Amino acid sequence: MNASLPSVDQYRIVAICLGNICRSPMAEAVLRSRVAEAGLDGLVAVDSAGTGSWHVGHEPDRRAMRALRERGYDIAHTARRVDPGEIDATGLVVAMDRWNLADLRDLVGDSSALSRIHLMRSFDPNLTHLPEDDGRLDVPDPYYGTLDDFQSVLDMIEIAASGVIDQARLDLAL
Ligand code: 4NP
Repeated sequence: MNASLPSVDQYRIVAICLGNICRSPMAEAVLRSRVAEAGLDGLVAVDSAGTGSWHVGHEPDRRAMRALRERGYDIAHTARRVDPGEIDATGLVVAMDRWNLADLRDLVGDSSALSRIHLMRSFDPNLTHLPEDDGRLDVPDPYYGTLDDFQSVLDMIEIAASGVIDQARLDLAL
């Protein structure tokens, strides 16, 4: 077990974007499904949050829900803003883009939680060679885009999700 992990009953994975209505609820739905497929229900909890507060209390964007449902995922999430304190109780924080990552780092300061904050696409096996400031690691914000943009966000999340689950297994020494 990773020594810097919080001592909590469940290993938490939290997906973070700006509004918590598009990318991170999609990541939450995909990761929760992968956790269940991996037989890790009960051991691993998945949640999402935003760094901004404009959409707190809202349901996910309709295009996000449609893209998810078309691929068989369930989503029931109410947007919320990330609470800096929760990061200390989180095993793995997956930020959708460089700005979310920078905002999260500012929020946690120099706590040991810093080492558990990563970009979602850094877990894409085809992209592990890229430095984290390379824009190709961003899951781009689809809010001002089309349903196609939401579908390509979902592609990116699905590809990276297996690596996120592998990291959780490693941290849990499974
Ligand atoms: P998300 O997308 O960060 O993927 O949830 C956004 C949703 C809303 C806004 C920005 C990004 N907004 O500016 O309202």
